[in-house]
Amino acid sequence: MKPLTALMTVSLGLLLASAFASPSEAHDSSARNEISESQVKEGYAISPIPKAQLNLRGKNRDMVGIGSYLVNGASDCSGCHSFPEFLPDKSMSDGGDPFTGLSSDQSSDGPLLANYDTADYLAGGQCFGPFMARNIAPDSNGLPAHLTLDDFMTVMRTGADLSCKNEPSDPICAIEPSAPVLQVMPWPAFHNLTDHDLEAIYAYLSALPQSTPCNTPADGCPGFSGLATDSSSYVYAATADCPNPAPPQ
Ligand code: HEC
Repeated sequence: MKPLTALMTVSLGLLLASAFASPSEAHDSSARNEISESQVKEGYAISPIPKAQLNLRGKNRDMVGIGSYLVNGASDCSGCHSFPEFLPDKSMSDGGDPFTGLSSDQSSDGPLLANYDTADYLAGGQCFGPFMARNIAPDSNGLPAHLTLDDFMTVMRTGADLSCKNEPSDPICAIEPSAPVLQVMPWPAFHNLTDHDLEAIYAYLSALPQSTPCNTPADGCPGFSGLATDSSSYVYAATADCPNPAPPQ
């Protein structure tokens, strides 16, 4: 077979294969698994944790870069999972101003310079009613949120809340049904990411330094009336190291 004909045959084969892929293969279409160099580059440029502080040993660097692009450029994981997200001034009581002390005329197409609170990056601790965003930085075994890749895929695809076995002190565990589902986490949207993209997010999370949140599940959240804990059991004090605002009234 001439090279061109062979190429056309292969292309047709791929086309037919993708046209007849079963719906269960939709998350893993190989056509969508290509590495985008520009996303890798952008991912490293926008990671609040600089590349030099990421643990890249044994990891696919392209996947870590794309993971950062998805986590920091597209999905805003940090908006919920880092608290406070910005930390220009520890006396601030509102979660921080990303731009204090930084140039007000930043270029609109370069990476944004902001005052990320890198010590608490993705360490959780922010309350949404009775639900506290979890620490999704790696644990001492290097597993983000104590989750293996398989468990992470399950969480992102089904919202299954697997955490009570690791964090039984979270007051939410006392009121959750036996097969709890994450309530605030936008997993119905993340469900539709490809396997490749979820694996990239996991690779990036795995490369982060360990992080300890100001608030832990044991501190509780103010809760909705009558649920979980109330504001009297809500430990959320501002200290020099943990500049939390007062609980919402
Ligand atoms: C709108 C806020 C919000 C966003 C955005 C968000 N999360 Fe979450 N996530 C939460 C909250 C709150 C919880 C835990 C409580 C719940 O949802 O019921 C959670 C739970 C999780 C868990 C379960 C952890 C465990 O202990 O089992 C994982 C994993 C997770 N998030 C990863 C992510 C990733 C990765 C992103 C970005 C791609 C993200 N989240 C974006 C709010 C958010």
